[in-house]
Amino acid sequence: MSADKKQQLKAIRGMNDILPPDTELWQNVETICQQVLSGRGYQEIRLPIVEQTQLFLRSIGADTDIVSKEMYTFDDRNGDSLTLRPEGTASCARAGIEHGMFYNQQQRLWYCGPMFRHERPQKGRYRQFHQLGAEAYGWTTPDIEAELIAVVHDMFERLGLRGTRLQINSLGDQQTRTQFRDALQNYLRPRKDKLDEDSQRRLESNPLRILDSKNADTQEILNGAPVLSDFLSEESSQHFALLQEFLVQLGIEFEINTKLVRGLDYYNDTVFEWINDGFGAQSTVCAGGRYDSLVEQIGGAATPGFGFAMGLERLVQILQEQNAAIAERSSKIDVYLISTGDAARGQALNMQSKLAKIGLNAVLHCGQSSLKNQFKRADKQGARVALIVGEEESAAKTVGIKILDRSAAPQSQQTVKQNDVVNAVTNCLESL
Ligand code: HAM
Repeated sequence: MSADKKQQLKAIRGMNDILPPDTELWQNVETICQQVLSGRGYQEIRLPIVEQTQLFLRSIGADTDIVSKEMYTFDDRNGDSLTLRPEGTASCARAGIEHGMFYNQQQRLWYCGPMFRHERPQKGRYRQFHQLGAEAYGWTTPDIEAELIAVVHDMFERLGLRGTRLQINSLGDQQTRTQFRDALQNYLRPRKDKLDEDSQRRLESNPLRILDSKNADTQEILNGAPVLSDFLSEESSQHFALLQEFLVQLGIEFEINTKLVRGLDYYNDTVFEWINDGFGAQSTVCAGGRYDSLVEQIGGAATPGFGFAMGLERLVQILQEQNAAIAERSSKIDVYLISTGDAARGQALNMQSKLAKIGLNAVLHCGQSSLKNQFKRADKQGARVALIVGEEESAAKTVGIKILDRSAAPQSQQTVKQNDVVNAVTNCLESL
């Protein structure tokens, strides 16, 4: 065998396998989030993972970190420039335009799936990660914003997530941002030498991003900088005030963070982030905001939008660290089927089908092994009940039932007719 063939193949750095039993937690998290969304009239949209590169250039913005440094872009066999989606909002807007979904209509949509960014991997930051996102199209008013923030709040509550803070800010309209950008640049240019390297680079291209620099010296300089809220128009201020009123009415606590600007260019007015303090540097679990120009910017008729995306890796890890009830590993094997000989195995297969049909988790021991080993495996997997078909039972078309659940009072094995197995197992499980 050549050296090449022997070399172990590994997953790409920053792109993780998600293994059982973690997959069960992922499924539970996704199910709860999806129930909350459909409970408020949001419908699922499934979008391709690959899009034309142009889509992201025109939506996220050429000067953002995502577009300038992090996209997985390649030419396909036709020479077209394609990109693995770094987020879902642009694709969702593209699909809505393409299928006429915004024409005289309002839409509440959600999606879930992998996104790709070539970032430096660390805890909570990966190159392939998963987002569950929701987007609402056709509303300019803050009621939809409060609704979507309440959706996230509800999800966190039902997941049992603790310690997550909501921060909100208003970026105002385009004109506000242009005025503020000029004022910020005028303030920072004479102080350029004292800014961190990243902020120096951003000063001309994307000065608003300097506001969320993590560098202490830069933050010190920013303390004397103009504040975005002073530049808001009357309309934007009223909009933001009404959102706050709705949140108070909903009993959702929030902080106003005037330095919250977000890393994508398409936002205007309301932006928000949910932050979990115990999690270290990558503490934003969910983020979003309003984007009223995006649809038009990528070729559709002007349609206001508002949405969020939640990072599922971060959410799942925080739930595990917090030992949330949902993260507890509970074996869900109701029945383990043990048998000896081919005739008995055939009967066991039959009973497995019947039990699975009524919604029980019934695992069949496959392959040849002694009864003792089969019992050991049943025990190790945490099965609650074992069904046993030995040669004797097989000949008599009966089956032995034995309770394995350690919390139950010890009981001797009982024998029932195979035809009665569904009733017998159901009664037995109910008694536990
Ligand atoms: P974003 O802030 O870029 O916004 O990402 C949203 C969330 O995705 C983050 O808060 C984080 O939880 C997760 N996330 C982002 N990058 C990574 C990464 N490299 N590894 C792990 N998790 C990550 C957006 O993507 C917007 N499309 C949100 C939105 C929807 N705005 C309006 N609608």
